[in-house]
Amino acid sequence: MRETILTGVRANEEPTLGNFLGAYVPMVELAKKYAGEKDVNMFVPDLHSFTTPIEHEELYGQIIRGVKYYMAAGLPVDSEGVSVYRQSFVSAHSEMAWILSCFTGFGEMQRMTQFKDKSEDLRDSVSVGLFSYPVLMAGDILLYSAKYVPVGEDQFQHLEITRDIAMRMNRKFGEIFTVPVKTAEQVKFMNLDEGLRVRSLTEPEKKMSKSAENENSKILLSDKPEVAAKKIMSATTDSVGKIKFDMFNQPGVSNLLQIVSLLKGVPLQDVISRWVGETRYGDLKNETAEVVRRFLVEFQEKVAAISDDDVLKVLEQGEERARVKAGAKLLEVQKVLGLRR
Ligand code: TYM
Repeated sequence: MRETILTGVRANEEPTLGNFLGAYVPMVELAKKYAGEKDVNMFVPDLHSFTTPIEHEELYGQIIRGVKYYMAAGLPVDSEGVSVYRQSFVSAHSEMAWILSCFTGFGEMQRMTQFKDKSEDLRDSVSVGLFSYPVLMAGDILLYSAKYVPVGEDQFQHLEITRDIAMRMNRKFGEIFTVPVKTAEQVKFMNLDEGLRVRSLTEPEKKMSKSAENENSKILLSDKPEVAAKKIMSATTDSVGKIKFDMFNQPGVSNLLQIVSLLKGVPLQDVISRWVGETRYGDLKNETAEVVRRFLVEFQEKVAAISDDDVLKVLEQGEERARVKAGAKLLEVQKVLGLRR
C-alpha cells in the first residue's frame, strides 16, 4: 500500500499567512515532490468549522474558496494520487470520530492546551465539539492510514494524541491503524529544523491566529495588498536596536526575517546573514512589506482565475476516491469492534 501524506485547513475563517506558510506551503511542496509515489490528501475539515460560533450563511462559500486557495497555492490537483475532498461529504469521518471517542480518555483530552486557551476566551459558550474535536481530527488521519501530516507547531499535541489513540487500539485489536510518525520526524519530512510558528504582528510572543480580534495582528490571504503592507510596517519589534534572529528575545524582528525567507523561498540563514547587526528596523519592515504585498497580488490573481466549477470537479473526483478508502478502513474497524462480520 502506498504511504499517505494528509493535511487540512479549516475554512470557516479567512486563512492567514500563518496557515499559508505553516500548512499550504509544506503540503504543496511535498505533493509536488511525491505525486505518483505517495497518496496526497488535502481536504477541507468542514465539520471542524463550527466548534465555535460562526456565520453559517457564509460557510458554503468559504469552503469553496478554501479549495481555490489550495489550488492557487500550487497543489497539483490533476496529478495521480492527489485527492481534495470535503470531510462532511465522506460520512465515515463522523462515524470514526464516535468510535475513537470511546477509546480516548477524558483526562487525556483535558490536557489539550488549545482547548484550554480557547475555552478561556469563550467562557459560557464552550461546546462539547470544541472539547472533542481532536478525536474527529484523529479520525481524519487514521481513516486514510496517513503516515505524514504536515501541520504547524500548534497542532503537534493533536498529532500526538492521534498517535496515542492509534497505538492503544492497535494493542487491543491488532494492527488496524497506521500510526503517523512522531512530530520530530514530521518536521524533518517537511524539511524544517523545527515546528513552524508564524507570530502575531502585534504580540509576537504569540502565534498569528485567524481568530485573533486585532486585525493588525494578522495578514489574511484576502487582505488588500496595500493594507497588508501597512500592517507589516506597524508590526511590533523590540528596543534592542540590532537585528538578530532570536525568537525568544527578539520575536518581532525574527518573525519578519522568517516571513521573508519563507515567502521568497530563500534559506533563512541567507536572510539572517543579509540583515544581522543592522540597526534600522524600518528597512527590514520595508523589505518584508514589499515581499508580502507582491505575494498577495500574485496569489489573489491566481485565486480569481479559478471558477467554482473548477473546484466542484476536483472535489467530486476526490470525494469519490476518499469514500472508497475511508469506507474500507471503517469496515475493518467495525469488524474488530464486533459490529460487522
Ligand atoms: P487550522 O485550520 O487552525 O490551521 C491549519 C494549519 O495551519 C497551521 N497554522 C500555523 N502554522 C504556522 N504558524 C501559524 N501562526 C499557524 N496558524 C495555523 C496549523 O498548524 C495547521 O497545520 N484541526 C486542524 C485542522 C485539521 C487537520 C486534520 C489538520 C482537522 N483535521 C487532520 C491535519 C490533519 C486545525 O484546526 O487547523
